[in-house]
Amino acid sequence: MKITLKPEEFYHLINHGPCCIITSGDEKIKNVAPIAWITPLNDEPPLVIICVASSHYTAELINKYKEFVINIPQVELLDVIKTTGKTSGRKKNKFKLAKIIPEKGVKVNCVHIKECIGFIEAKVIDKKEYNGVILYVGKVLHCEIEKEVYDKYLITHRAKTIHHIAKDKFFISGKEI
Ligand SMILES: Cc1cc2nc3c(=O)[nH]c(=O)nc-3n(C[C@H](O)[C@H](O)[C@H](O)COP(=O)(O)O)c2cc1C
Repeated sequence: MKITLKPEEFYHLINHGPCCIITSGDEKIKNVAPIAWITPLNDEPPLVIICVASSHYTAELINKYKEFVINIPQVELLDVIKTTGKTSGRKKNKFKLAKIIPEKGVKVNCVHIKECIGFIEAKVIDKKEYNGVILYVGKVLHCEIEKEVYDKYLITHRAKTIHHIAKDKFFISGKEI
């Protein structure tokens, strides 16, 4: 037997990609916010989409600098997701608030988060707004992952990425099958 959800709850069923932390801005003006709604769009060329509410400071900085970094947090950083998702960077320096360290970008001016197991640097090539949410298409310029969690593919039980289900519910990546 299956149960019917409200259409607006559809994402509860497919929202298990890793919840990532987006860094935006440059080395001086920088911000950090968790974004769960992310999808690869293509591999050749490597394109990714992130969905960001237009009211967020993150959207303001991505519109200005036309770059962003997708940082991949592991289970130890769950509190960083919670802390940086509660406040806007317009009001607080969230790097200080969450006690995380910004590291200089490789191919972009935007920083990434030292403590995360990996990061993906992208430059914005297109954007479209739907009802207050901006869908940014980014061309991936560079990405890195910790050696011990990757062997041709992500070793999910070692990576222990964080997956957002809804509200305050999360799970961590586990064993490959
Ligand atoms: C687990 C989690 C996932 C989130 N996913 C998204 C998302 O996909 N898109 C979005 O626009 N906001 C998302 N948010 C909300 C923003 O991260 C939050 O509003 C943040 O404070 C915005 O910060 P800013 O104004 O500094 O950009 C999420 C928050 C949490 C806690």
